[in-house]
Amino acid sequence: MSVPSKRDVFRKDLLAGRTALITGGSSGIGFGIAEVFASYGASLVLTGRDEQKLAAAEERLAPLGTPVVTVASDVRDYAATQAVIAQAVERFGGLDILINNAAGNFNCPFEKMTPNGWRAVVDIDLNGTFNFCHAAFEALKASSHGGRVINITLAQGVSGWPGSSHAASAKAGVTALTRSLAVEWGPHGIRVNNVLPGPISGTEGLRRLYEDRGEGEKELSRVALGQFGETDDIALSCAFLASPAGEFITGCDMTVDGGRWLKRQWL
Ligand code: NAP
Ligand code: COA
Repeated sequence: MSVPSKRDVFRKDLLAGRTALITGGSSGIGFGIAEVFASYGASLVLTGRDEQKLAAAEERLAPLGTPVVTVASDVRDYAATQAVIAQAVERFGGLDILINNAAGNFNCPFEKMTPNGWRAVVDIDLNGTFNFCHAAFEALKASSHGGRVINITLAQGVSGWPGSSHAASAKAGVTALTRSLAVEWGPHGIRVNNVLPGPISGTEGLRRLYEDRGEGEKELSRVALGQFGETDDIALSCAFLASPAGEFITGCDMTVDGGRWLKRQWL
């Protein structure tokens, strides 16, 4: 008997009849979530700033046969965000799942960071998450499946992150927003959770924050399981939270990092 792949763990129609919006769905972890959600039958709305990246993502998803809408927009722009939500609702008749994945980050000592550099990251990561949660509320409330919000955060949002203080601070804000909304929106049936990835191979985050700086091996040594994760590891956790199996889960931090956060403290 063959060993099932990770994706075989869930049934093929796990997310059929649901519409998911993924910010930053054109590359890296966001695209990985899009691929997995498409393979489980969800209709997709993907955003990002770069139209060409979005077009390439749409082309790669086409063989999966699920409807995909891409919208070029910046998560920092609230009016554009409202338009994205309106487009999703018009095209698919509603919105069930919102994944706030878009983020910006770069390594820079705090004293060298310019106010604009700080603002850029906080605006994308934290205010961008505000924008999408705020604009999507009515649609999520109306979801017959119970709306789901999944915010992609970081263990460094709890531990702090020397060299990426802007991203750590912004993700700490997102973590607090998740917990606040889980309680505020519980009565509306909307589940709000964090997923905290560890280092994921082949992504821009791992490349720019570790590998390009010659820190790849060091980062690997911090992972208890001794390996980097795959985008599927994050995407499948999101699929679980978005599925009927996630009905009683809200306000949680789902850490998917091979034990990095724990081992990091012992080095
Ligand atoms: P990535 O490939 O650079 O993905 C970021 C996505 O967000 C891209 O699609 C990008 O597209 C979009 N984006 C960036 N700024 C945007 C803006 N202002 N408005 C709209 N879209 C924007 O990065 P990744 O490494 O996959 O990271 C994805 C998420 O996982 C982030 O939340 C990150 O903090 C988290 N994470 C990653 C790792 C890792 O190992 N990679 C570890 C822990 C957490 P455009 O450039 O076209 O806008
Ligand atoms: N070191 C120090 N400062 C930097 C920097 C770096 N590596 N990269 C950008 N900045 C500063 C810029 O100098 C600018 O500040 P200034 O106007 O005072 O000079 C500020 O950050 C904004 O830069 P800009 O390029 O105009 O911002 P943007 O809105 O076009 O892009 C970023 C946002 C900077 C976060 C960009 O890196 C990005 O688009 N990232 C998305 C992808 C990503 O980060 N993926 C990994 C996710 S974990």
